Amino acid sequence: MKKDSFVLRGGIVYSKNLNEIEAYDGGYLVCEDGSCKGAFPVLLEKYKDLPLIDFGDMLIMPGMTDLHVHAPQYTFRGIGMDEELLTWLNKYTFPEEAKYKDIEYAKKAYDHFSEDLRRSFTTRAVVYGTIHNEATTALMEKLEKTGIISFVGKVNMDRNGSAGLQESSAAESLKATEEWLEAIAGRFKNTKPILTPRFIPSCSDELMRGLGELAKEKGLRIQSHLSENKAECAWVKELVPSSSCYANAYELFGAMGSNEFPSIMAHCVYSGEEEISILKKHGAFVAHCADSNMNLSSGIAPVRKFLDAGINVGLGTDVAAGSSMNLLKTVLITIQASKMYYRLVDNSAKPLSFEEAFYLATMGGGKYFGKVGTFQEGYEFDAVVIDDSLMKSMRDMSVRERIERICYNDSDAFIVEKYVRGKKIYTRTR
Ligand code: GUN
Ligand code: FE
Repeated sequence: MKKDSFVLRGGIVYSKNLNEIEAYDGGYLVCEDGSCKGAFPVLLEKYKDLPLIDFGDMLIMPGMTDLHVHAPQYTFRGIGMDEELLTWLNKYTFPEEAKYKDIEYAKKAYDHFSEDLRRSFTTRAVVYGTIHNEATTALMEKLEKTGIISFVGKVNMDRNGSAGLQESSAAESLKATEEWLEAIAGRFKNTKPILTPRFIPSCSDELMRGLGELAKEKGLRIQSHLSENKAECAWVKELVPSSSCYANAYELFGAMGSNEFPSIMAHCVYSGEEEISILKKHGAFVAHCADSNMNLSSGIAPVRKFLDAGINVGLGTDVAAGSSMNLLKTVLITIQASKMYYRLVDNSAKPLSFEEAFYLATMGGGKYFGKVGTFQEGYEFDAVVIDDSLMKSMRDMSVRERIERICYNDSDAFIVEKYVRGKKIYTRTR
């Protein structure tokens, strides 16, 4: 028999497309060689010989993708939410990230981050490290051990940082990036590098241009922040006066990516028509970070406009501006934010349905990794098994209702097992 081949039985739920969820009570989910063969209400004859694991009444959903999370900021998640972006960076974030120069501190903090990510709903993640090569390599080593599939970036910053958190020049930052790429080359199966200019205010023109060239030369992807906060947007216009909008500044430096090597741009709260067309033209992914956007009073991103324009959208927890790595909670906040956008900003922008938000957390972000994020045939087999039996009810709840209920309140729902490409990477022990 091929390896990583088995059948899971349980309450199966997954997206068919942006608007439809498929759910089976007591359904069968088939994995062959790490690949999904589909979900079925009854087990097909040809799969009857595969080992079957019966999860009874438990829920089985696709693993979720976090398109934007800052590993070094996990240490101060849920605290220091009293400032807006630029002050928040200087007051809390830069001093914390400066500590990762100390490799012992970094290793301990990244142990906490990696272990908690392993126990989460996330099976794929795109992660920021810090400017420090040694610490970022340690982060990659730890993530590789979890079995989660990720992109990880050593951050570039050669201006407007803090005393302890800034590279001395564009040349030094580019050199460090090349050294980091050499140090990790060929070392990891599941953990890939991604170029990570923090955002335009942190990176000189020369550095941005150099990173754009490096991306093309080595076939690397780029992640950054875009149009998150009004003061930030005004600052970018001052820093790159020739740019017609923030995304155009990245474009001028050759750092917007391509369909083959798509960039991830986090936030996009203040992206107007021109910016939307630039994102679309380059096949970029918007990492929608609704929790973070509210915590830092940044605003609400026009997700409905992105979807209508056919832009790739996934969800980012953006810890620590987002307060937790829980993507189910992020689904809920995404829906709530879209309702407030509709009510307070633009009543032609229909709020996101549960189907749409669930899609963004699974298939939407999963697309960045290829065929990932659903149980349709041919997708990679990433699955999370959830026990919600402590959530009492006076009515018969369908699988579809139960998955919605745990997005709105997951306090009594527990992850029992998690699979990535057909390999079990987590089993609950307590
Ligand atoms: N913009 C530049 N750096 C950051 C960061 O660390 N978090 C957030 N939310 N926005 C940023
Ligand atoms: Fe961020």
